[in-house]
Amino acid sequence: STGGTEAQKRRAGEAAANAVESGMVVGLGTGSTAAHAIRALGEAVESGLDIVGVPTSFGARELAIDCEIPLVGLDEVDGIDLAIDGADQIVLDSGNCIKGGGAAHSREKLVASAADDLHIVVDPTKTIDVLDHTVAVEVLPDAHTVVADAIDSLGGDATLRRASDKDGPVVTDNGNLVCDAEFGRIDEPASLATDLATIPGVVEHGLFVEYATAVSVGSDEGVSTTTY
Ligand code: A5P
Repeated sequence: STGGTEAQKRRAGEAAANAVESGMVVGLGTGSTAAHAIRALGEAVESGLDIVGVPTSFGARELAIDCEIPLVGLDEVDGIDLAIDGADQIVLDSGNCIKGGGAAHSREKLVASAADDLHIVVDPTKTIDVLDHTVAVEVLPDAHTVVADAIDSLGGDATLRRASDKDGPVVTDNGNLVCDAEFGRIDEPASLATDLATIPGVVEHGLFVEYATAVSVGSDEGVSTTTY
């Protein structure tokens, strides 16, 4: 999460939740902004909205259970109508974004790839002209040094993400580790996305190129939505 306010995040999350209709299979995103969408959907379900949710993480699942949104596994549905998720940084011109600050990006990308639409919800501190945020790379547990070397060869600088509450690495919901890669300005996200995806040992990385079909930015005044 970032310096955005809860009110900004709530406006973005609620804008995306408003686009959900009865009968839909909805991807439920991870993080503090997507959480506002999940809470809004929970209230709508209580008032009669008929949906099923596919959570993108342990955290999203926990919140959705709390909000009494019916949940299904990705392998139980024939696609997802709309996925709602946050981002760590986004370019509004293209909708290209970086996710993975919460180490949930592999499942987030999987759910997004199965969805007809991906609605990204952010506060104004997340928008930028050229992506330059840390790219989270989920790796198989013993692959982190090999992958870090490969990231160096791509001109990046990779660090194993360490836990703050234990003497060891962050372990993802999938039992893997995370290499955080710095590339500076990412002028060609599509080619970097391909390069990262083809490194052996990489499970998934947090560059989302041409996934978003809508982005809602919540502000102090209201919410502005761009579609792609
Ligand atoms: C999780 O891995 C990320 O992709 C989140 O979607 C991202 O960190 C957004 O979280 P906030 O809305 O809390 O900033």
